[in-house]
Amino acid sequence: MASREQFSSRTGFVMAAAGSAIGLGNIWGFPTQTASNGGAAFVLVYLLMAFCLAYPALMAELIIGRHARANIVTALRYIAPNKATRWLGTFVGGCGVVVASLILSFYTIVAGWMLAYLGQSITGLLSWQSASDWLVTFSFPRNLATGGLFMILTIAIVGKGVSGGIEKWSTRLMPMLLAIMVLLIVYVMTQPGAMAGLRLYLLPDLSHLEPSLIVDALGQAFFSLSLGVGTMLVYGSYLSEKENLPSLGATVTLVDSGVAFIAGLLILPAIYVAQAHGADIFDAQGNLYAGPNLIFQVLPALFDSMGTIGLGVALAFFTLMSIAALTSSISMLEVPVSLAAEETDLGRPKATLLIGGLVFVVSVLIMLNFDTLFDFVITLTTVYSQPILGLMLCIFVGWIWHRDNLLKEIKAGHPEIEGTWFWRIWPFYVKAFCPVLILAIVIPSFT
Ligand code: TRP
Repeated sequence: MASREQFSSRTGFVMAAAGSAIGLGNIWGFPTQTASNGGAAFVLVYLLMAFCLAYPALMAELIIGRHARANIVTALRYIAPNKATRWLGTFVGGCGVVVASLILSFYTIVAGWMLAYLGQSITGLLSWQSASDWLVTFSFPRNLATGGLFMILTIAIVGKGVSGGIEKWSTRLMPMLLAIMVLLIVYVMTQPGAMAGLRLYLLPDLSHLEPSLIVDALGQAFFSLSLGVGTMLVYGSYLSEKENLPSLGATVTLVDSGVAFIAGLLILPAIYVAQAHGADIFDAQGNLYAGPNLIFQVLPALFDSMGTIGLGVALAFFTLMSIAALTSSISMLEVPVSLAAEETDLGRPKATLLIGGLVFVVSVLIMLNFDTLFDFVITLTTVYSQPILGLMLCIFVGWIWHRDNLLKEIKAGHPEIEGTWFWRIWPFYVKAFCPVLILAIVIPSFT
């Protein structure tokens, strides 16, 4: 096999993995789930899920990936000791590739909306009225154009490879994302109404503690850490032997949860600032707007009411959203592309173009049947498939992979890991506890 690409440094990996993890799930999903699930009560359950279930599952992916140095299908086959488990590896890996592609197909549509509103903040500045109206009015041609543009950007980066594309762009874009977010928070906090949003965010309302909240928090944690479909597995496969995996995984989990938390400091106060500016922030049932209405109605109403400065704030906000989406979408596309590039003679650029094109065809099908397919694909992939595939990866690590090889991989390059808590607890935990806990949480939601 040709020599395999690697991330050029520890920071490069952290930027890429954090770039994958930090996405619309953090900046939009987490704050609004928090708002509709009782504020701080949800934050607490979320953190519990992130560190007790998502972190162990993330470690399973990183360890398999670095050991096998391959895409998810080849990697699972590689650690499987016999024919039956190799077959299972092909099946689970194949499902991961399909689910990653499906997630990318709906993510592309939503990211396209972010580009549309970003474009509108520019056409608005230039007073191009009809272009602005076209950009912010839901239509098939608009979705096709902006989703297509987003897919082209994703393909352009992934086609350039691991260090020259994914790592390079993540390292450029992630610091920008943080800077924009901090600027926006500082600005929003000085506006009237911000404190009401902050209160809702930070004071727990325990009356909302229901079983469904735990399922939501688990799904959110798995989505946010990009788990189950082989994203983190393939990023782990580009890591050098010298890296300390448990600490890298912990860094990524911390950064991801930290940014989700910080995003809440922006979104929830912004909702209440919008209310102070006269926007309607509750739907007919009296619930806070959380879905597309929030991002594409409540917040734009706020930006509009702020006059010219509002155009600048809108520009910053939708740039933030677009960056977050792009560094995530490249990690989704890498899952099928790594398989095609490693198992066929296509070569990376061609494989990227072909697969990106295919995924976009699926996006177009969803756009054309929006009312029936959009929510369906999201629920199918993120609520059910991701936790179940994550569980299968825990089973591969705990039950199928030869234990000695697993332990050797954990401490590769860092023999001192043998003295840590991680070493003592994780192998047993991921084998016995994670599968049972994930099942216990996910099964009731099927009924
Ligand atoms: N974690 C990203 C977010 O929060 C989305 C994401 C990237 C993802 N890669 C993934 C989700 C793989 C599921 C699977 O928006």
